[in-house]
Amino acid sequence: MTIGVFDSGVGGLTVLNELLRLVPHADYLYFGDTARLPYGSKSAETVARYAISSARLLQERGATLMVIACNTATALAMPQIEKSLSVPALGVIAPGAQRVAAISRSKSAVVIGTEGTVASGAYPRALAAYGISATQKACPLFVPLVEEGWTDHSVTEEVARIYLSELFSRTGNADRRPPSKSAAASDSQPDVLLLGCTHYPLLKPLLRRLVPAQVSIVDSAESTAQKVAEIVSAMQKENPSTPVRPSASAAASASSIQFFVTDSVEKFQRLGQRFFSRKIENVSHLDLET
Ligand code: DGL
Repeated sequence: MTIGVFDSGVGGLTVLNELLRLVPHADYLYFGDTARLPYGSKSAETVARYAISSARLLQERGATLMVIACNTATALAMPQIEKSLSVPALGVIAPGAQRVAAISRSKSAVVIGTEGTVASGAYPRALAAYGISATQKACPLFVPLVEEGWTDHSVTEEVARIYLSELFSRTGNADRRPPSKSAAASDSQPDVLLLGCTHYPLLKPLLRRLVPAQVSIVDSAESTAQKVAEIVSAMQKENPSTPVRPSASAAASASSIQFFVTDSVEKFQRLGQRFFSRKIENVSHLDLET
């Protein structure tokens, strides 16, 4: 099985990391639309056009299951992307929301993401289907800070503190005691922080320090990979000849991973290495209309 992973740039590598961990026997095609990023500040029409052309390209190259790793593309264009493909596609929003629903006791969550993701209201809609109310906050400075490598920098911490202070009344090191059972049950304070952007998993340790101890952090990259693992195993049960590399085979080698980018290969490798757990090789440049 060949899984296509689409993102606006390097951030989707956080999703690929999780996929490689949970679905290690598939082959992967990764597409980073680095010439046209960021998607987070663009209109829905533009994001849909870019995402469709990119996803189609992965399909043409042999992807049999598509993962839309980019939260903004999922939020703004998932129905159009699905319609434009003949292979199944999964975005990051539904799995993220499902995970929140599984763990939230207060039925209240905070969602952070790009301007586009937040403006779309896609996460609150997905969460409302589970009876969960969501407070959202666009955190546009996080993407450049993470790409700068400032994942544990005092500037990033200050920015995060400002963003989060409006969201959690007890942000900071104050009151880090878990609440009593009865308090938690009756409390409608958010008890989950959902990371609705590909870059945010790199900020998890910093965010963990800032949000109250009783707040769980859900990473849509991880939830999505879990969902893909379920889909792949269901596909195999339904059709045991589904050509995923046979895990039982001693010869089962590591997944093959091929990368495509629309801007500099060298820059993708350099920047991407901050996000990716393995060495980035096999990168090809592709030209797409702008
Ligand atoms: N990949 C985008 C997302 O997850 C963040 C980067 C961008 O704005 O293109 O929303």
